[in-house]
Amino acid sequence: MRRRLWSMVAGVAALFFVLSISLHPFTNTLQADAEKDDPTAWGTDHINQEVPEYTTGGECLFCHRDYVGPRWPKNLHALTMRGSTPEDPAIQAITSQPNGKLLADEVTILLGARDYVRYLKKLPAYGKAATLSGTFHPKVDGGKLDPAGEQHWDDDLFNNKCAGCHATAVDPETAGFGSPGLDCFVCHGIVEAEHAGKPEITFFSPRRKDAPRAEVATCSQCHLRGGIAKSNGRPYPNNFVPEDNLLRDFEVDFSEQNLAQMDVIERHIFANARDVLVGNKIDVTCTSCHSIHGESTKKHTELSETNDCKICHEPGKAMSDVKLPKTRHNKTCQY
Ligand code: HEC
Ligand code: HEC
Ligand code: HEC
Ligand code: HEC
Ligand code: HEC
Ligand code: HEC
Repeated sequence: MRRRLWSMVAGVAALFFVLSISLHPFTNTLQADAEKDDPTAWGTDHINQEVPEYTTGGECLFCHRDYVGPRWPKNLHALTMRGSTPEDPAIQAITSQPNGKLLADEVTILLGARDYVRYLKKLPAYGKAATLSGTFHPKVDGGKLDPAGEQHWDDDLFNNKCAGCHATAVDPETAGFGSPGLDCFVCHGIVEAEHAGKPEITFFSPRRKDAPRAEVATCSQCHLRGGIAKSNGRPYPNNFVPEDNLLRDFEVDFSEQNLAQMDVIERHIFANARDVLVGNKIDVTCTSCHSIHGESTKKHTELSETNDCKICHEPGKAMSDVKLPKTRHNKTCQY
């Protein structure tokens, strides 16, 4: 009786062993399928965690002074928060307002470097800045402040509503930023010292084949304007680090209806992000068309045609005949 029981136990154990071996590859495939079907399954996240330590651009550029170095100070990512000077047309526009001289002296940072400029001043608290009410339009009437007249400071707006996309390493708890403007870290993530001998370990190294979803998520952390972080309700991601899964916490409306009311620039970004992040299409990503340090989209002209080309290129018209919007508006950025 006892022997029978033991052999039964051994039999069940053997059966279980055989089953678990044969089930093993099966469960692996299931997991791979789940990652493919569920856009939030792959990658890591840093939601509500401490901001990681990162090397600042000055240190990187000490070595990268041939190609990236000379180009970086002119890159709009670097310029998005820049120090103000009395000669800047934006500062001169403020100076001519009531109490303007005093106000101009308070402004320490200008936000935006093209069609719209906002005025910021550094606050005493770590990584905090106040925003002035007026917006400067450099290309309207030779430079125009709107609204003109009496200006007021808002101490909360920048950190709660803007910092995550215009500054680097925003602390999810305090909303204070680590560095003003966009540093190498926002795209390249944490770069280990050993990368100098092994460049292929660096995220976005041309020698490394990064996962298309991870690349597109990295650009999309800032370029999907209108998204909301579920964890804290802010309009920018909660502590995103390259190789994180953006959609795990950042809620984005990819509906046709939402895309249809956008200008073509905004729409091609959302369409590409939706194709890659939700549809898991991997053939075309932001960097198939955009070169960040080359500041060019020249390479996009060599791609084969897809549906997304029609966002900008009208069928039947010459490829050189493209009309991009002259003025752009965006609720998230208040312009
Ligand atoms: C942390 C936020 C952030 C990330 C990450 C980011 N961008 Fe940007 N990007 C911006 C902001 C902000 C501007 C506008 C700066 C300004 O005008 O003040 C901008 C401007 C641009 C421009 C227009 C200016 C130019 O240089 O031609 C392009 C194109 C662009 N980004 C593409 C990308 C791509 C591609 C990626 C991913 C490799 C990326 N961005 C990653 C925030 C970001
Ligand atoms: C907005 C995103 C973004 C930021 C910010 C950024 N990079 Fe890059 N970097 C890229 C991408 C994307 C590539 C891959 C090549 C390409 O598409 O331009 C790249 C490539 C490089 C390369 C390889 C050079 C090449 O093109 O062959 C170096 C070196 C580099 N980056 C250094 C830096 C340094 C240093 C900083 C900060 C001062 C920085 N990057 C900031 C996106 C960025
Ligand atoms: C001590 C010098 C040094 C520092 C500091 C440094 N790098 Fe590098 N990096 C190198 C060297 C050397 C390479 C090898 C490829 C080359 O010669 O460009 C490299 C390669 C890279 C590449 C890949 C380029 C390629 O062609 O594949 C990227 C991207 C990059 N570095 C980004 C950064 C960023 C971002 C920082 C700061 C966080 C940084 N590096 C700091 C020396 C340095
Ligand atoms: C099929 C090619 C293609 C893809 C994919 C693509 N872009 Fe673009 N993008 C372009 C072209 C071309 C322009 C127009 C450039 C110009 O102004 O001449 C553009 C314009 C932009 C602009 C405005 C640039 C400016 O100077 O104002 C931004 C920002 C941008 N793209 C970001 C992205 C991001 C982020 C992604 C990925 C989610 C992406 N793009 C994917 C081709 C592409
Ligand atoms: C975001 C808008 C945008 C998207 C998306 C886009 N293009 Fe373009 N494309 C442009 C702009 C802007 C030009 C430059 C027109 C000019 O000034 O010559 C251009 C130019 C071109 C040219 C060169 C035309 C010439 O004769 O000079 C080709 C070829 C081209 N695009 C192919 C494509 C293909 C293929 C796709 C899809 C994979 C695509 N484009 C997607 C905006 C876009
Ligand atoms: C989700 C990320 C995100 C948030 C949040 C955000 N921005 Fe932006 N902002 C961007 C990007 C991306 C661009 C570049 C867009 C482009 O050129 O296509 C930009 C561009 C700008 C520009 C320059 C526009 C130009 O063309 O000259 C200004 C100014 C600006 N934002 C102000 C703000 C202010 C003020 C806030 C907060 C109230 C804010 N932004 C919040 C991502 C963001």
